[in-house]
Amino acid sequence: MKAAKTRSEQRSTWLRRLRSSSIWAPLNQPKHWNMLAQVINPVWSFTEIQARVVRVIDEAPGVKSLWLKPNRRFGAFVAGQHLLLELSVNGARLGRCFSLSHAPRADRQLRLTIKLKDDGPVSHAAHALTVGSIVRLSKAQGDFAPKSASTPLLLLAAGSGITPIMSHLHTLAASQSTRDVVLVNSIRTERDLIFGEELRELALLWPQLRIHLHVSQESGRLDPDALAALVPDWAERETLLCGPVGFMQSVAAMYAAAGHSERLHSESFGRAASVVDPDAAQHEVSFAVSGNTFTAQAGQNLLEAAEASGLKPRFGCRRGICRTCQCRKQSGTVLNQLTGQISGPGEELIQLCISTPQSAIDIAL
Ligand SMILES: Cc1cc2nc3c(=O)[nH]c(=O)nc-3n(C[C@H](O)[C@H](O)[C@H](O)COP(=O)(O)OP(=O)(O)OC[C@H]3O[C@@H](n4cnc5c(N)ncnc54)[C@H](O)[C@@H]3O)c2cc1C
Ligand code: FES
Repeated sequence: MKAAKTRSEQRSTWLRRLRSSSIWAPLNQPKHWNMLAQVINPVWSFTEIQARVVRVIDEAPGVKSLWLKPNRRFGAFVAGQHLLLELSVNGARLGRCFSLSHAPRADRQLRLTIKLKDDGPVSHAAHALTVGSIVRLSKAQGDFAPKSASTPLLLLAAGSGITPIMSHLHTLAASQSTRDVVLVNSIRTERDLIFGEELRELALLWPQLRIHLHVSQESGRLDPDALAALVPDWAERETLLCGPVGFMQSVAAMYAAAGHSERLHSESFGRAASVVDPDAAQHEVSFAVSGNTFTAQAGQNLLEAAEASGLKPRFGCRRGICRTCQCRKQSGTVLNQLTGQISGPGEELIQLCISTPQSAIDIAL
């Protein structure tokens, strides 16, 4: 009896020692589990969403689609959502937002359709990816979608703004929706058309869809008059809008003037740069860790002000959605351009891209 107890005591002492041994220390760190998992499969990760590029398609000059197979951490998405694509560029990890341009699929593959941007590090790195490349993603987010399930729809896309609209079209067609749907797709020249073949096939398979292609080099800019001529019942339709800032502003003004702003849902890929008023109050901003200081004007967001002085803070969406630019304000007050709220004077997290100074600011960067 005594000997059995001793053996069990010995066993538990041995197990305790084994458990607390320093040989296991590396396995307490998720990054080491990740390294182990990735030896077996490069997209496996215990902490990150990773995806393998499974197909690369040239869509139009300067526009490529990447088909990605993510690991299980990605979860689900719905039409109209976007994600943050993170790539290594010259040793730095940079992220930018891209819309999912296809409906959710049974094989869990995702499509991103990316237009090259002049001097844009992430779009250039994305275009250099090949089948087998591994990328990092965020979960999908956003709510760019119609609010009613049956009202007739107007989908208004210009240029690469077709990407989230395409995800909606595939989703509606896959469900054989009986909704009356009109797509107005504005492009600069015929060569710039993205998804031309795919749109023709969708319209054949799904008769609810009517497509108007507007080529602005031939027919002039798609202004409110041109839009009203193409879709006379536009005011009765719930509308999804995505395209360049100027185009979106003119459509938003058209809906506001007609008192129909509540029918318009927009997805913006960027924001117009702040209008800098030379007479506006100027505030000193200091990045306390790096020792950099610069001046920002009331009305100018801190990201743009830092860039104007030659600094390069990290950013992703420039719209206040991805939090890549989030940092700790140590002192000073800022206005949040999205909520209109003025911060307290003390320590708090702020997003540079949507914060404009109301006083001198110290930031832990
Ligand atoms: C929700 C969302 C969805 C998107 N979906 C798509 C999509 O499906 N397909 C697609 O092609 N693009 C999409 N975009 C746009 C894409 O994220 C940007 O074009 C991105 O900036 C490209 O990254 P980049 O590194 O190539 O260029 P960046 O480095 O971001 O831009 C190049 C240069 O322009 C400057 N810059 C960038 N944005 C601005 C700005 N708003 N004002 C002033 N200067 C600026 C930068 O400082 C930089 O010097 C989306 C954006 C958002 C927010
Ligand atoms: S850059 Fe995305 S929140 Fe500021």
